[in-house]
Amino acid sequence: MQQTESEMPAKDQALASSPPPAGPCAMVIFGGTGDLAGRKLFPALYNMVKSKLLSQDFAIVGVGRNDYTHEQYRQVMKEKLQSFATSAVDPALRDWLIKRVYYLAGDFSDPQLYLRLKQTLVEIAQKDHNLEGNYFFYLATSPAFFGTIVDQLGASGLAKEVNGQWRRVVFEKPFGNDLQSAKELNCQVSKVLAERQIFRIDHYLGKETVQNILVFRFSNGIFEPIWNRRYIDHIQITVAETVGVEKRGGYFDMAGTLRDMVPNHLFQLVSLTTMEPPISFNPGSVHDEQSKILHAIQPFRDEDVLHYAIRGQYDAGLVKGERVPAYRAEEGVPPDSKTETFVALKLMIDNWRWAGVPIYLRTGKSLAERRTEIAVQFKRAPLVLFRNTPVSSLDANQLIIHISPDEGISLRFGAKIPGAQMKVGAVKMSFNYLDYFGATANTGYEVLLYDGIMGDQTLYQRADMVEAGWAVVDPILDVWKALSPRNFPNYKAGSWGPEEATNVMARDGRSWREIKE
Ligand code: BG6
Repeated sequence: MQQTESEMPAKDQALASSPPPAGPCAMVIFGGTGDLAGRKLFPALYNMVKSKLLSQDFAIVGVGRNDYTHEQYRQVMKEKLQSFATSAVDPALRDWLIKRVYYLAGDFSDPQLYLRLKQTLVEIAQKDHNLEGNYFFYLATSPAFFGTIVDQLGASGLAKEVNGQWRRVVFEKPFGNDLQSAKELNCQVSKVLAERQIFRIDHYLGKETVQNILVFRFSNGIFEPIWNRRYIDHIQITVAETVGVEKRGGYFDMAGTLRDMVPNHLFQLVSLTTMEPPISFNPGSVHDEQSKILHAIQPFRDEDVLHYAIRGQYDAGLVKGERVPAYRAEEGVPPDSKTETFVALKLMIDNWRWAGVPIYLRTGKSLAERRTEIAVQFKRAPLVLFRNTPVSSLDANQLIIHISPDEGISLRFGAKIPGAQMKVGAVKMSFNYLDYFGATANTGYEVLLYDGIMGDQTLYQRADMVEAGWAVVDPILDVWKALSPRNFPNYKAGSWGPEEATNVMARDGRSWREIKE
């Protein structure tokens, strides 16, 4: 007798539900020799080969400035795969992928490059793989090239969908560097592409644990009734990194943590945690609700920025026992840099569900631990019952959604400590992905690439979502630009950030969750 899905062990359900391979297409990677292609895209494609998610008629064309032949590029990517694959590389699967790889050298603003690309794609389709004229362009370049590349794709006819062929373009983050530039970019690309062809990526949406926020909230009857201002005291979201800026000093010093992390990654976590239930899982319905919640974030006035937006920059220190230089001493960073490497914010959401419930965010580099989590803190129970006992205070219940490196959900509640006296201690009930579903080594890009090739935009961002994110942080960027930070560097590498971040919660009688290894 066949088991129904709900009777099967969780691990078997995961295996039984593999989706079908995507259809024929060529993936063209602009920035094919760059960091992202080697570290994430190729390892993700390899994992997709392993999970049988790619068509036999699939090809990759790397486009970059280095003067490689097809064979040299294949060799480079083979080596990258060896270094960055998320599990041991099976030579047969690797070769399956590598033999579908091609390379074109050129300048992204040169129209000739696009004519050669067109020709190459036709040749691949004639000789090796029937790509059916479907092209998946991935812009893994500096955002400075986005507009140019899209214009050229338009001018060369490569972006045009005819006879049932599809053409889609993925934009890496950051999409713009403030509200104005994001609007301009949206406007520029919409002259060439329809919204259904535009895929604005945020790799946080590729994380299983992030996608699970929606499933957790909306597939369970017991949480949603208490998911509101009547029961929740506040929400705190931490995205803490132990790494500094590594080799990205040049980019990072122009961006800073606010631009690099907040309107994108952190706001994805905010919107999925606080949005209303969508009417369906259609991309449009999910995006509508995400967009609505971002629009409901109370705008920062200048004086709010001074009180509720904290910035920091790390000084030299010890991270996990390793000596780390000050941010200003990192490669590519000016010695008097005013760029922030830490941000804490207090947000308020102006709608019925969340009125009066603060959302605290903190994110930074060179912090004490690597940890991404969402902690939902519930209101305390009244102490009345325990008034004449040794119990002098009650802890609040906390529901923690662990995003990384731990993946799971835990609930903290009070329990009686065994013994003659009435004492209450905090205990934890935990669900851990690993225990139920086994290890799923992946880069987070697999599902996003698969969805992109399938044309599913649910896990990508719509134009208005990107703009709504920038609209929240724009006033902060303006005030920070006008008022140079006077106390940088203001936290030691290996700490939890500047004292002002502690104060922002302490002023409200709250504190950041203590995160230990
Ligand atoms: C990137 C940022 O988008 O996300 C990096 O540019 C950051 O600065 C990274 O380190 C964090 O991603 P993850 O998946 O490691 O949390």
